[in-house]
Amino acid sequence: MTAAQKFPTFDFRHQHLLGIEELSADEISLLLDRSDHYAEFNRTDVRAPQILKGRTVINLFFENSTRTRTSFELAAVRLGADVINMTVEHSSIKKGESLLDTALTLNAMHPNVLICRHPESGAVKLLSQKVRCVVMNGGDGAHEHPTQALLDAVTIRRRKGRLQGLIVAICGDVMHSRVARSNIYLLQTMGARVRVIGPPTLVPGTMEQLGVEVFHDMESGLKDVDIVMMLRLQLERMQGSYVPSEREYFRYFGLDKQKLSSAREDALIMHPGPMNRGVEIDSEVADDIGRSAIQEQVEMGVAVRMACLEVLTCNLPILETR
Ligand code: NCD
Repeated sequence: MTAAQKFPTFDFRHQHLLGIEELSADEISLLLDRSDHYAEFNRTDVRAPQILKGRTVINLFFENSTRTRTSFELAAVRLGADVINMTVEHSSIKKGESLLDTALTLNAMHPNVLICRHPESGAVKLLSQKVRCVVMNGGDGAHEHPTQALLDAVTIRRRKGRLQGLIVAICGDVMHSRVARSNIYLLQTMGARVRVIGPPTLVPGTMEQLGVEVFHDMESGLKDVDIVMMLRLQLERMQGSYVPSEREYFRYFGLDKQKLSSAREDALIMHPGPMNRGVEIDSEVADDIGRSAIQEQVEMGVAVRMACLEVLTCNLPILETR
């Protein structure tokens, strides 16, 4: 059996996963279908095929992360890879090494996949131009977080049966959110209608150019929506004051039962985590098992990352035998 026969190939024309913006609807659908496949595996005791056996995955995180890093790690381990985790605290980056020096050092170790999170927009792309392996973006600044948008989409598709035609409201700190940007690209490509809701200080003026509807109050913005996607107030990215106080923010933009009553009765509540309870979301709605899909988003995160690893690495055996 040749390498090409042993490993399935997919119609996916990118070496790296840097953002949703560059993906077509067919490529997004492929990743969502493969994620569904792995989600079923993950609910059983059956081990997924060890397609990454003998491969090395490096998790390179320049920003704190719990769920994204763990989720990528678990995904890679479930597919049989050897995984190395590097966080800023333990690396030479703290000693002043530049991103490119780090890239060259890692490159010399011949990893197969590099997963990177970085506080600067565009840093992961720069890294991908300097290394020979597959690079996956685990979040770059306020730019993109492609696997988060994919896991949100799988969650929505499983609950609602489709993305096409749904009305999705993305609420809160859109300004600093890579999750918002990746979701806007994905949902629009897949035929959903996107609204953003937030105070004028936290909604960038460029939003309308992306084709989304902008609202500055929850009641009118949430009217008739199918999905309510809340965002964390990202205080660590704010220089200066964007909101008067957390209490005031909750009063006008925090999701509670009252504000949620404007949405459709079967509207799904989502949040990428970590949540600031009592700031952007009230516990009563976050923990409502009938309507909140927040735990399912975390579950789908592992399946999505397995799918991305599979699709992006399936050409490796062929490339390597050339
Ligand atoms: C998001 C992120 O890091 O961009 N979190 C995540 O990946 N689950 C959102 C956030 O930090 O608020």
